[in-house]
Amino acid sequence: MIKIKNLHKSFNGIKVLQGIDMEIKKGEVVAVIGPSGTGKSTLLRCMNYLEVPEQGEIEIGDLKVNAKTISKQEINTLRKVTAMVFQSYNLFKNKTVIENIMEPLLIVKKIKRKEAEEIAIGILEQIGLIDKKDSYPSKLSGGQQQRVGIGRALAVNPKIILFDEPTSALDPELVGEVLDVIKSLAEKHMTMIIVTHEMRFAKEAADRIVFMDEGKIAEQGSPYDIFNHPKNARTIKFLEQVRVY
Ligand SMILES: Nc1ncnc2c1ncn2[C@@H]1O[C@H](COP(=O)(O)OP(=O)(O)OP(=O)(O)O)[C@@H](O)[C@H]1O
Ligand SMILES: [Mg+2]
Repeated sequence: MIKIKNLHKSFNGIKVLQGIDMEIKKGEVVAVIGPSGTGKSTLLRCMNYLEVPEQGEIEIGDLKVNAKTISKQEINTLRKVTAMVFQSYNLFKNKTVIENIMEPLLIVKKIKRKEAEEIAIGILEQIGLIDKKDSYPSKLSGGQQQRVGIGRALAVNPKIILFDEPTSALDPELVGEVLDVIKSLAEKHMTMIIVTHEMRFAKEAADRIVFMDEGKIAEQGSPYDIFNHPKNARTIKFLEQVRVY
């Protein structure tokens, strides 16, 4: 179970997160949608302390931290139980696919090479890239590179994966393979938050949709409710603007 309570974050005196409360069940997939500049990326970044929130509590499994009192050690633990997947894949260009996936195991988890290789092979099978094991990222399609990015996130065995627009750098025909990987992780009960501008993706991947506006959660519900029967005026307006499905 993951809980966020009253999370606040400002940049230069401008309030970007204005008291976010969220609960995510184990194995739940939550898509966060909303206008540009509304704080979606900031929310994910605060969840693993890439950004430092001013106020609020974050609870992930046994770990419970308060922004006012968090210690360095708690920040390290928080980073170990959360993994981020970004729009750009951030792969090491001079390392092969398997080396990219082994890297967090060797460096972060300090696992021995042989064992790291076995874990990485398991992950490659899961993301359908075992045949590309020894390829370099430059030889892969965008969709395949993003799947390696997801593989790297999986390697550290996180309690939650935070995706920030995982498909927005991809050609439309490559979105499906990333969606398939995310769906296969959902079947294995991986807990995930996915920030996306692609409503079709949100609808297909998520158990729940959270609509954020101006640093707050304005509305949330099942994909069916949010896309077919939105109640909040801002949700309605936003969906009218992006409606492409
Ligand atoms: N490091 C930073 N320094 C200053 N301002 C920032 C920083 N990061 C984000 N902001 C500001 O915070 C607000 C929210 O940004 P954020 O990136 O969280 O929005 P978003 O909802 O992810 O938008 P988009 O859909 O365009 O990705 C914006 O006004 C942005 O300019
Ligand atoms: Mg963003």
